[in-house]
Amino acid sequence: MAIILGIESSCDESAAALIGSDRSILAHRLAGQEDAHRPYGGVVPEIAARAHVQILTPLIQAALDDAGLTLDDVDAVAATAGPGLIGGVMVGLVTAKALAMAAGKPLIAVNHLEGHALSPRLADASLEFPYLLLLVSGGHCQILRVDGVGQYRRLATTIDDAAGEAFDKTAKILGLGYPGGPKVEALAKTGDARAVPLPRPLLGSAEPHFSFAGLKSAVLRAAQSGSHRPEDIAASFQAAVVDCLIDRLEKALSGSADEGESPRTLVVAGGVAANGAIRSALEALANRHDMGFVAPPLWLCTDNAAMIGWAGAERFALGLTDPLDIAARPRWPL
Ligand code: KG4
Ligand code: ZN
Repeated sequence: MAIILGIESSCDESAAALIGSDRSILAHRLAGQEDAHRPYGGVVPEIAARAHVQILTPLIQAALDDAGLTLDDVDAVAATAGPGLIGGVMVGLVTAKALAMAAGKPLIAVNHLEGHALSPRLADASLEFPYLLLLVSGGHCQILRVDGVGQYRRLATTIDDAAGEAFDKTAKILGLGYPGGPKVEALAKTGDARAVPLPRPLLGSAEPHFSFAGLKSAVLRAAQSGSHRPEDIAASFQAAVVDCLIDRLEKALSGSADEGESPRTLVVAGGVAANGAIRSALEALANRHDMGFVAPPLWLCTDNAAMIGWAGAERFALGLTDPLDIAARPRWPL
């Protein structure tokens, strides 16, 4: 069994994990920075980068201690090399390079999106390629066909905001604070999803893409009108997001069969996959299409280092390691 040290620092979570190629999670540690960013209502890139400098190295040591391992026991060091907030990515990547160099181990530069895309295979050994992946996070909203490690075809992306961003902005408008997704979901539970008429951008469009900026503006207008209860706005907003996601997935499913073997499984990943209403709508969609449905456990959906370690393990098994002069990339499409 190969053991991979995974490091994640592309946004506001510092994380380190030790992952076995047999899917064992030997250790995983995560340190959020919510308190540092809360006064600003969102992630401040420089504050995040500075926090990673302080947190990351002791966190890696703590993960090694949890697993009862030293760097000598590790077969490769994998770190997020992008996309993300570049200051944080640089802290994690340069830390990984230094550890790899000092311990004489190979480096694996992982695309954060690949981490999300492959994370369901860490949780579910039976998940085989190809699968259709909805990747929904604070920074991304994409539909991908995953044909194998390193073989991703993007079928849809957002033309403006990501779904998680729309949740976070809605939370801000409703005065719920940051991070917003879970708070909007909790408030939505007590509201009426039909109370506030909100748009479903691009619904029924021939292009498979997403758009959430217009929905966010409509939420702002509804809140400013003063004629709706916040819980009804939250519930109506969440229902609009669900409708958009399902409609665009239906569109992608009707096209993806033309591309060779049809995906047999619908998979969701990324922070927004923690949302219960979205999960149940996706499961129903998979049932309608006679597809399997895989949603990783919640902790694996939001940013973490286990998914980076696992993507590292998948790449390591194929001999895909990287040179020490590899660059950090703020933008890096899959
Ligand atoms: O994957 P992730 O941890 O970080 C990124 O790579 O972006 O995703 C974070 C996003 C945030 O926008 C957060 O509000 C959203 O996921 N999120 C949720 C829920 N939990 C987290 N959105 C809706 N419902 C939730 N329960
Ligand atoms: Zn992420």
